[in-house]
Amino acid sequence: MKRSEIKSLLSGEQVGEEILLKGWVRTKRGSKNVAFIAMNDGTTINNIQVVADLSKIDESALESVTTGACLAIIGKLVESQGSGQQYEIEADSIEVLGAAHPDEYPLQPKKHSLEFLRENAHLRFRTNTFSAINRIRHAMIFGIHKFFNDRGFYNIHTPIITGSDAEGAGETFRVSNLDLNNLPKDEEGNIDFRKDFFGKETNLTVSGQLEAELAAMALSKVYTFGPTFRAENSNTTRHLAEFWMIEPEVAFADLDENMDLGEALLKYLIQYALDNCADDLAFLDSRLIEEEKNKKAEDKSPMALIEKLKFVLTNDFVRITYTEAIDILRNSKPNKKKKFQYLIEGWGADLQSEHERFLVEKHFKKPVILYDYPKEIKAFYMRQNEDGKTVRAMDILFPGIGEMVGGSQREERLEKLEQRMAEMNVPKEELWWYLDLRKFGTAPHSGFGLGFERLVQFVTGMGNIRDVIPFPRTPKNAEF
Ligand code: 4AD
Ligand code: MG
Repeated sequence: MKRSEIKSLLSGEQVGEEILLKGWVRTKRGSKNVAFIAMNDGTTINNIQVVADLSKIDESALESVTTGACLAIIGKLVESQGSGQQYEIEADSIEVLGAAHPDEYPLQPKKHSLEFLRENAHLRFRTNTFSAINRIRHAMIFGIHKFFNDRGFYNIHTPIITGSDAEGAGETFRVSNLDLNNLPKDEEGNIDFRKDFFGKETNLTVSGQLEAELAAMALSKVYTFGPTFRAENSNTTRHLAEFWMIEPEVAFADLDENMDLGEALLKYLIQYALDNCADDLAFLDSRLIEEEKNKKAEDKSPMALIEKLKFVLTNDFVRITYTEAIDILRNSKPNKKKKFQYLIEGWGADLQSEHERFLVEKHFKKPVILYDYPKEIKAFYMRQNEDGKTVRAMDILFPGIGEMVGGSQREERLEKLEQRMAEMNVPKEELWWYLDLRKFGTAPHSGFGLGFERLVQFVTGMGNIRDVIPFPRTPKNAEF
């Protein structure tokens, strides 16, 4: 007999039929004559109830039916007599495919802390919260490819191992197969990377942007969506050492079009989640309402999850320059009352997440796009403005998250780019191919990077980024 999935069983189409169900036990409860088993197989947040009548099912067969066990059940799908579910299964036979001994199985039918579940990341897919998050994660990935495909963008696989550090931040993970206990040295006593696998120093990529730019100078509209790696020692709720980034790159687009694309993409994805993940979002919405009850009044979120998603959809993002933002921040209450950890004294300061969140959560109360940042705090490749002070950068800031997107119009003028690279000590020799693009058929172009896990955090309402990726990589943590 072919296995029926819970999602389709709950639609009721097979009511009256004999069916085969396979899945994992969430809970079992019962009385003298009957046991009720809640089963889940990951196809939906909803469990299906299996009724095991002890006149039909041998009691010993139920001994190993405990939370976490894997079962194959043959039975009849019927309309439920009880309240709480529309359909249930009357079991004719129950086979235990894999027991989960209750003395050892870490997940019990009770609320576990997120920290505990992180330590048991191999099992946390079996909780409502993580199965919901991972279904939503999947839907968002699918939605991203659909958005770009429908608009004529081509997906480009940019390399994961690179010889360049795109952001010039130097916070990269080295890739090498040299023997760490016996490193080859050159004449000067330095490590001889000519002997390394690639014959040069290489690292895991921090961004696919530079290579995406190469592709955009022929294919016009491209995007990469791949893993990126940063060895920054940031133990925050919004940083991972390994995260996924969506990076579109568009020939002939200026910064305004770049902002339009970023806003359209974010709204599309939020709508996509609302349209395709209603059950999972409803579950996370009620989960958050429970969580909020335990929070202090000042930490309480002003909106519930779904309400917040709809709010973002129906409002234009605010667009202001960095300079305007600094004015707002300088005159803000927390700055005057010295409540910010980093006080805003003048133009040029790098914005910290407390400032970004003030603008978004307190001042404007909606997503904000900041643009035209001081060149000193941005990467070498951003297009320089006529004022000599600012570059055509843009960051999209979100409530509860801070920076969701970082992007810019790129410097397409060879001389200007070379001059900026020299000022910032970015080695020309390593990026000869990037400069070549400005020599041969250069064109204005723009792009941005959207941090995928930060987006999933926003959509699911999860407070910690470690809970929206199956196996988080953070400082001192690479288990599983
Ligand atoms: O602002 P970032 O560093 O921009 C770039 O890497 C550009 N090369 C992108 C481009 O223009 N093509 O990173 C982009 C986004 C951030 O806005 C943030 O959402 C996310 O990536 N991000 C991280 N997400 C999780 N953990 C980290 N450590 C992150 N660092 C950046
Ligand atoms: Mg950034």
